[in-house]
Amino acid sequence: MNLPQLPLGVRVMDEDHFALEQMFARVPALADDALQAYLDAILDEIRAHFTREEAEMERVGVPILPCHRSQHAALLAEAEKLRESFARAEPAMRRHLIGYALAQLLANHIASVDQISSQFFDDKIDYAALAPGDAA
Ligand SMILES: [Fe+2]
Repeated sequence: MNLPQLPLGVRVMDEDHFALEQMFARVPALADDALQAYLDAILDEIRAHFTREEAEMERVGVPILPCHRSQHAALLAEAEKLRESFARAEPAMRRHLIGYALAQLLANHIASVDQISSQFFDDKIDYAALAPGDAA
């Protein structure tokens, strides 16, 4: 299992966060005319990830799930504002809006709300106890 920059020990979080990091990492190499579709693809993936993450928190009974859902909604609202800016931006700024601004929104969420919510999972993966490659 590949780990994201901030592993939280919750599989659905770590797998999805890693996949999103990989998507953000591809932004500098994209052609100008591919940026709009790529923004749409990342936003679709973020929405799908939020749905999976919320379902897992519901299954486990994370007590702050209503707050977490609100944070997801707030992030998606910010992302919509970013999309409006994107429409009138030059290609270099479009890359910045996806690869930095949107990536930072998500990184801040992971380091705060996700980090706190992960504490409520009692079956967390102990990566330190695993030999390399065992977490797959
Ligand atoms: Fe989250």
